Amino acid sequence: MTLALFPGSFDPVTNGHLDIISRTLDIFDEVVVAVGHNPNKPGWLSPHERVRLLEDSVASRFPDGSVRVTAFQGLLADLAKSLGAGVIVKGVRGVLDLESETVQATVNFNLCGVQTVFLPASFDVDYVSSSLIRELLAAGAAVDKYVPASVVDALDRLPSLNKSQPGRDSRS
Ligand code: PNS
Repeated sequence: MTLALFPGSFDPVTNGHLDIISRTLDIFDEVVVAVGHNPNKPGWLSPHERVRLLEDSVASRFPDGSVRVTAFQGLLADLAKSLGAGVIVKGVRGVLDLESETVQATVNFNLCGVQTVFLPASFDVDYVSSSLIRELLAAGAAVDKYVPASVVDALDRLPSLNKSQPGRDSRS
């Protein structure tokens, strides 16, 4: 049994993320989706909200329990060690992603000995990103083509959506 760790900001989760989880399950037995903080990205939803949206999406798309969601602080390598992860999975949308992802993969391997596997985003979702979703929502545009249905419903109910704008400082 190989546990795959799929970390990211998930701010919010998109159909692109679910595509990577689905294809990770084609290769590995179980997936832990880990919501972390990227210091180079402004936070929008709180970590709690990101986890909740992911849990809703994962429960409806992968009801067999093969995917779990968690949040983490600190080093990804420490989480990988504590979970006994066999592999770290990252989705890449193009060559621009690869430069920083390669550095992270090497540092994570040096820290914990766990290899990173890069999965290319599927063609039909490779242009979808969380920043695109935030931008569309800020302009009042529909995002239902790009995020799971449960996320559309939940985003409507999130208090933070109406109180703040994308790009504000993280509350984490
Ligand atoms: O969605 P993102 O921005 O690609 O997610 C990045 C994230 C949160 C996975 C990454 O920033 C991360 O692993 N943060 C934890 C801190 C860490 O382990 N840093 C060392 C790796 S270079």
